[in-house]
Amino acid sequence: MTTTTTMTPAAGPGGVASPTASTPVRAEHLTKRFRQGEGAVEAIRDVSIAIDGGEFVAVMGASGSGKSTLLHVLAGLTRPDEGHVLIDGIDLASLSDARLTHFRRRRIGLVFQAFNLIPTLTAAENITLPLLTDGRNDLIAERLDPLLDRLGLAARRNHRPDAMSGGEQQRVAIARALITEPALVLADEPTGSLDSVTGQKTCRLLRELSEERRRSIVVVTHEPAVAIWAGRVVVMKDGRILDEFRADAFKDAHSLAAHYQEVVGAMPT
Ligand SMILES: Nc1ncnc2c1ncn2[C@@H]1O[C@H](COP(=O)(O)OP(=O)(O)OP(=O)(O)O)[C@@H](O)[C@H]1O
Ligand SMILES: [Mg+2]
Repeated sequence: MTTTTTMTPAAGPGGVASPTASTPVRAEHLTKRFRQGEGAVEAIRDVSIAIDGGEFVAVMGASGSGKSTLLHVLAGLTRPDEGHVLIDGIDLASLSDARLTHFRRRRIGLVFQAFNLIPTLTAAENITLPLLTDGRNDLIAERLDPLLDRLGLAARRNHRPDAMSGGEQQRVAIARALITEPALVLADEPTGSLDSVTGQKTCRLLRELSEERRRSIVVVTHEPAVAIWAGRVVVMKDGRILDEFRADAFKDAHSLAAHYQEVVGAMPT
């Protein structure tokens, strides 16, 4: 495996390390609380994470451990109660809601388990929607065809979602996330609705995407067979980062799963 997993900033021009320029995602001391009945739950607590360009990070953890909340906060879909998210050096807290939406549209690609495709639109129309809503129709001609080819969707461009397989729909969702050429792609259980063969193809694709253009990819997953494709695995428990380890230290998903179980089981609840 050849993945970039280092947390150390790459040397900039002249060999001088430049943490801000080379660390596209920096989250510092994030806490997010939700009201639940009379009380509140801390979905994530004091979470800090830095993700390099070209890094493919898998976030694992039990249901309710805060994985989706972390992803949503990194995406700027949810504002944290405490802490900061900096993307390409820009603090999301400094942006108004409107500017944050605009920023997210241009810099972040989102992929969800349920694909969230619009059923009445064709594959090509779904994929180009982020450019249309951003008023950048002029980019469609140069970007759509290469992306359809890249994801093996050229023959499906005029199909609506209900005429495509689950794997094809997921590739449309990934293409939609990539058409804006974001530096950061965030995916929440992107293989959750796919059979294992299609899921593995999606993982290979995500890894290739991270290796191209030093894109940062964060994937939330329950599946060791997905995490094994990542460079780094971050394990969450009760809203905190419990541990992290390199995925390429393991020869297969089975040994990664055994280590994950050890990490999760070894700590007191
Ligand atoms: N909008 C919300 N309102 C209230 N509580 C929430 C909300 N979103 C998340 N929570 C709570 O925050 C905690 C973390 O939820 P989160 O969805 O981040 O977990 P998760 O790790 O993604 O779980 P799963 O694997 O089941 O998707 C849970 O206790 C959940 O009930
Ligand atoms: Mg979740």
